[in-house]
Amino acid sequence: MDIDQDKLGELLSTFVTDLGATIAAGNVVVGHRLGLYRSLADAPATAEQLARRTATDPRYVTEWLHGQAAGGYVSYDPGTGEFSLTPEQAFALADPDGPLYLPGAFVLALGSLRAESQITDAFRTGTGMGWHEHHQDVFTGCEMFFRPGYIANITSSWIPALDGVQAKLTAGGTVADVGCGHGASTVLLAQAYPKARILGSDYHQGSIDTARKRAADAGVADRARFEVASAQTFSGTGYDLVATFDCLHDMGDPVSAASHIRQALAADGTWMIVEPLAGDTLPDNLNPVGRVYYSFSTFLCVPNARSQAGGYALGAQAGEAAIRQVTEQAGFTRFRRAAETPFNLVFEARP
Ligand SMILES: C[S@@+](CC[C@H](N)C(=O)[O-])C[C@H]1O[C@@H](n2cnc3c(N)ncnc32)[C@H](O)[C@@H]1O
Repeated sequence: MDIDQDKLGELLSTFVTDLGATIAAGNVVVGHRLGLYRSLADAPATAEQLARRTATDPRYVTEWLHGQAAGGYVSYDPGTGEFSLTPEQAFALADPDGPLYLPGAFVLALGSLRAESQITDAFRTGTGMGWHEHHQDVFTGCEMFFRPGYIANITSSWIPALDGVQAKLTAGGTVADVGCGHGASTVLLAQAYPKARILGSDYHQGSIDTARKRAADAGVADRARFEVASAQTFSGTGYDLVATFDCLHDMGDPVSAASHIRQALAADGTWMIVEPLAGDTLPDNLNPVGRVYYSFSTFLCVPNARSQAGGYALGAQAGEAAIRQVTEQAGFTRFRRAAETPFNLVFEARP
């Protein structure tokens, strides 16, 4: 075999980064669960001080800090022996309610990987694995992964980018948040538009139970209610806005979901479709963001679609053309890209 040493070196360097990231993922989740990042954000600390502050074992904390410093998630000062977070590290790692919270993504990733044996079997059999069959960390990780982006974008840029929706919701109006999961988006909408009435729905009972709790805790249960229902069966008609946040591509039958959404909308209503950022062709998506989404999609989105009737499995990198086609097949006549972020595409579809 003719081995090009430079190309092998490149592959090995990618491998070392990936292997480090894979095992470091568990360490990030440990830091999240024990409040280690939050405590470091409060003040620099030696390993002993951090262990004392977080009621943890100093030897474990020492090893954890060394790995974190090697990975660039924590800063180390050899002069003082102290560990700390820069403002950027604190911004990204220490505030679950801020506009960026990276540990949530690792909770989702590790939760997804717990299904590795079922997914390996699914490759052999072609059968599906429903969202509800995953580990609880998939549901909470998904909420933590997406919520910061929703806080940063939904009411400040995505809703204002839709034609006339902001004014309708400010004055009142009705919203259906379909496939709402733990209801992060539903609660944010209810907080931003107190006169609007919002129905969150999801086929997964466990997620809806949590969504109800989230709404009650946020004090918006009077205007955000929830039901267990699929996108093909959720209740109500005459909605000013139907929103699907990162779930259309998960469905086995997105076209029948789109048809149900169309008949549930008011004549001048709007469907806001939030989907992962993607280009229309595979080469468009052969980049780090595409890798993240395809890899999650293999464990979560495609198996969920396969577990449902309908024959579709769009995957998390469906792209604009595929989403447009779904809306057209369901009879929507107007479709446009209304907004985008480095991770999301936001479409507006109208009857
Ligand atoms: C990636 S999660 C997104 C959850 C939530 N919208 C968010 O952004 O946090 C996909 C959600 O779609 C839901 N889902 C999948 N298939 C569905 C269907 N046919 N009808 C309704 N919900 C569905 C799952 O239960 C899950 O909560």
